[in-house]
Amino acid sequence: MPACSSGIVRSNKKVGPDLWEMEFTAPDLAREANPGQFAHIRLGENQDPLLRRPLSLYDVDGDLITLFYKVVGRGTEILSRYSNGQPLDIMGPLGKGFTLVQDRKVLLVGGGVGIAPLLFLGRELMARNNQVIVLHGAGSGEETCLESRFTGLGMDYRTATMDGSLGFKGLVTDLMVNMDPGSIDYIYTCGPEPMMAAVADFAARNRLPGELSLEEYMACGVGACLGCARKLKADDRSYIKVCHDGPVFPLDSVNIAP
Ligand SMILES: Cc1cc2nc3c(=O)[nH]c(=O)nc-3n(C[C@H](O)[C@H](O)[C@H](O)COP(=O)(O)OP(=O)(O)OC[C@H]3O[C@@H](n4cnc5c(N)ncnc54)[C@H](O)[C@@H]3O)c2cc1C
Ligand code: FES
Repeated sequence: MPACSSGIVRSNKKVGPDLWEMEFTAPDLAREANPGQFAHIRLGENQDPLLRRPLSLYDVDGDLITLFYKVVGRGTEILSRYSNGQPLDIMGPLGKGFTLVQDRKVLLVGGGVGIAPLLFLGRELMARNNQVIVLHGAGSGEETCLESRFTGLGMDYRTATMDGSLGFKGLVTDLMVNMDPGSIDYIYTCGPEPMMAAVADFAARNRLPGELSLEEYMACGVGACLGCARKLKADDRSYIKVCHDGPVFPLDSVNIAP
C-alpha cells in the first residue's frame, strides 16, 4: 500500500509563464521514490477539489523533492498559492517507474511539462555511468527554464522551440531525427502523445528499445476506480490502468495515434 506522507513546503516559485517549481521535504516518500513514479496530492480544504492531482517527481535529492508544474486549472492554481512551511498532503510514490539502464548512451525526449519525470531519471542514469542527452521541446525559450538543472548534473541538454527563440527552431522530434541513431542505445520519453508517437516511430525504425510515460486523467491513483483505464493498442482486448500498471510502458507496447 502506498504511503500517505505529509510534506513540508520549502519553496514554491514561478519559473516561467504559468510554470512553477515547488520544493518540499518528505523523507518517507523520498526514500521510496523511483524515477517515473508520481505523487498524488490533495489540494485545498474540505475535500474541494475532491480528487487528488497527480504530479511527477521532478527531482529527488536526499529528503528534498521538487515538482515542476504548469498551472492549467483549479488544482494547480491552488498549488501555486502554497508557501514555505505549509504542510502538503501527498500519497506516494505511486505507479511503476522507468527501468534504469547502465553504461549506455541514452536519449531523453520531453515535450512541454512532459520533461518533468526526466530530470530525476537523468540524475539516476548519470549515477549509473550512462551518457545522457536530453532533448526538450517547448513553444518558446521562456518555457525552457530548466537548463542548469540538467547541465548541473552533467547531462547534455538541447532545446527545440517552435518560435525559434531558443535552440533548434521546430519540433523536438525534428531535432531528434537529425541525430545519428547509432549513437543511441536507449530512449525515454514523456510529453504530448503525438510527440511520443514520433519518438516511438523513430525507435522502431532504428530498432532502439525504450520507454514512455503516459499522462491520463486520474482519480484514485491506486488502481481501484478504473478512472485511468485505457487500451495500450487499439486491438487489445483488455484495458490497463495507467496509475497502477504504468505510467511507464515499453515504447513498443503502446500504439499511440500520431
Ligand atoms: C502520472 C502523471 C504525472 C503528471 N505529472 C505532471 C507534472 O509533473 N507537471 C504538470 O504540470 N502536470 C503533470 N501532470 C498533469 C497534471 O496532473 C494535470 O495538469 C493536473 O491534474 C490538472 O489539475 P487542475 O485542477 O489544475 O486542472 P483541471 O481543472 O483538472 O484541468 C484543467 C485542464 O487540464 C486538462 N487536464 C487535466 N488533467 C489532465 C491530464 N492528466 N492529462 C491531460 N490533460 C489534463 C483538462 O482537460 C483541462 O483542460 C501529470 C499527470 C499524470 C497522469
Ligand atoms: S485512477 Fe483509479 S484506477 Fe487509475
